[in-house]
Amino acid sequence: MDADLLRIRDDALLALESCQDEANLEAFRVRVFGKKGELTSVLRSLGSLPPEQRRVVGEQANQLKELLESQLTARRARLQDEQRAQSVAAERIDITEPGVRRLRGSQHPLLQTLDETIAIFTAMGFEVARGPDIEDDYHNFAALNIPADHPAREMQDTFFVGPEMVLRTHTSPVQIRVMESRQPPIQIIVPGMVYRNDAPDQTHSPVFCQLEGLMVGKDICFAHLKGVLTAFIHSMFGPDLPVRFRPSYFPFTEPSAEVDMGCPVCGGNGAGCTRCKGTGWVEILGSGMVHPNVFRAVGYDPEVYSGFAFGMGIDRIALRRYEVDDIRLFYENDLRFLRQFS
Ligand code: DAH
Repeated sequence: MDADLLRIRDDALLALESCQDEANLEAFRVRVFGKKGELTSVLRSLGSLPPEQRRVVGEQANQLKELLESQLTARRARLQDEQRAQSVAAERIDITEPGVRRLRGSQHPLLQTLDETIAIFTAMGFEVARGPDIEDDYHNFAALNIPADHPAREMQDTFFVGPEMVLRTHTSPVQIRVMESRQPPIQIIVPGMVYRNDAPDQTHSPVFCQLEGLMVGKDICFAHLKGVLTAFIHSMFGPDLPVRFRPSYFPFTEPSAEVDMGCPVCGGNGAGCTRCKGTGWVEILGSGMVHPNVFRAVGYDPEVYSGFAFGMGIDRIALRRYEVDDIRLFYENDLRFLRQFS
């Protein structure tokens, strides 16, 4: 082989071996095959050789060109394989390694109970209304037929937050706010927090959750009250539970009734049951026919309209539903307790 070609070949094969990436390969290509490349120069200068030599060297140069081109292609393929192998190794996932467990939250048992209660009433056509937690004396008491000297005000230990302003002691003031703002027919429920100046104990919390209900129209009677509340208790606690309506007193209803259901613990049996104290019944809400004075306070004519109202403690419903025996558990946010409801 021509001495020049021999030198070009040996240099090129050596240089190719040391190419480590695409940039090296491109530099190699330019150096050998480029316009001023080593091999290109030889091919160009063939014309100046005597014809005999030209044929021999030309053939050798073309063979070398083919050789180096195929070596370049092979080197490129090998580099690409190496790179792929490297990145596969780097991205390798060890599927036997234990995963990182994500902590998942869950809905608080009180909210679960509230959501379910709301769902039962909205299915019966009630819509959800809301009102302020900080309430004025008029809406919390006076408009609900609880005048300043009425003993009922003492039944509820009130947090006063300013002159004539209180933290609402019940959700009943929202009845007034809704009736002030529109005309019957009205069919609402009012979920919300209420506040009483009670020392916390097994059955009392200074903050708790109530759900109020109000249905007003023409010819609404006690049978509607019984039907709606019985339907609620049956879908919340079971269709076979006995329900009873016991005469009671609330200033804003007349007549008034407290509603009991058969004790879910002893099945209404009573004997020796600590939950119902042996009576076979547990009280779950207060209710009654809206008092004419309440209608007068909002400008409704009690001769034209009638209605019923009810109020229940969601905490109590939750206590019964989950067989929990201390209301404070709902407010302490102890994860060991809450996780049992996820
Ligand atoms: N507001 C009463 C309470 O907090 C509950 C209540 C009783 C609401 C009878 C009513 C009702 O709407 O008719 O103890």
